[in-house]
Amino acid sequence: MSVADAAERRAAVLRERRVAPSILSADLARLGSQVDEVLAAGARVIHVDVMDGHFVPPITFGAIVVAALADLVHDAGGVLDVHLMIERPERHVADFAAAGADSITIHVEATPHVRYALDAIRDAGVGAGAALCPATPVQALDEVADALDLALCMSVNPGWSAQRFIPGSVGKLRRLRAALPDGVALQVDGGIHDRTAGPAVAAGANLLVAGSAVFGSGDPAGAYARIVAASGAA
Ligand code: DX5
Ligand code: ZN
Repeated sequence: MSVADAAERRAAVLRERRVAPSILSADLARLGSQVDEVLAAGARVIHVDVMDGHFVPPITFGAIVVAALADLVHDAGGVLDVHLMIERPERHVADFAAAGADSITIHVEATPHVRYALDAIRDAGVGAGAALCPATPVQALDEVADALDLALCMSVNPGWSAQRFIPGSVGKLRRLRAALPDGVALQVDGGIHDRTAGPAVAAGANLLVAGSAVFGSGDPAGAYARIVAASGAA
């Protein structure tokens, strides 16, 4: 496969129905083998939660962690889906793109320059995503819908794994799906497990981020398979 074909294939993965394990909940002392395990179980979207200690209180991963995982994930035909929970994300797009990110999602609450940031992501040859916190209305994406490859609906408050799914997220997903152009991926993030995955898919989500339900389980491959089975995703 040529480099261009591989990049196109990776872009297509984001439009499939997929469970995306979040490494936020992985055993970070053995990150590579944890990611290997879910790739072997069939996962092709690996979600990386980047937090800066400002937009959200915790500090997590930088671009060097994306770079460290890039070959492992790409060699398996997977994508690195980077969720930036950081202020002024436009200042960091180039670094994450160079590190091997396949999609970069920014928060609309984190910058006054949402369109600029989305355009910078696409200009870097990466899929562009915009995320909404639970209190942010669907209409926040109205003026940038044409610049999106992905929309992320937070179904918990960003910053931590293992929180409870906010039930109103199902209706919000439905409204987002109706508002977004065809071909824009709809991702749900927070509190996804084998009982919340089905309703999220029924509401229109095609990418289901799952952190604690996969890596907090003691059997990531088995837990991944259970969420896949519950959701009809891959
Ligand atoms: C939270 C992160 C999520 C987190 C989800 O701010 O964006 O991706 O890993 O964790 P769970 O699936 O445990 O809710
Ligand atoms: Zn996330």
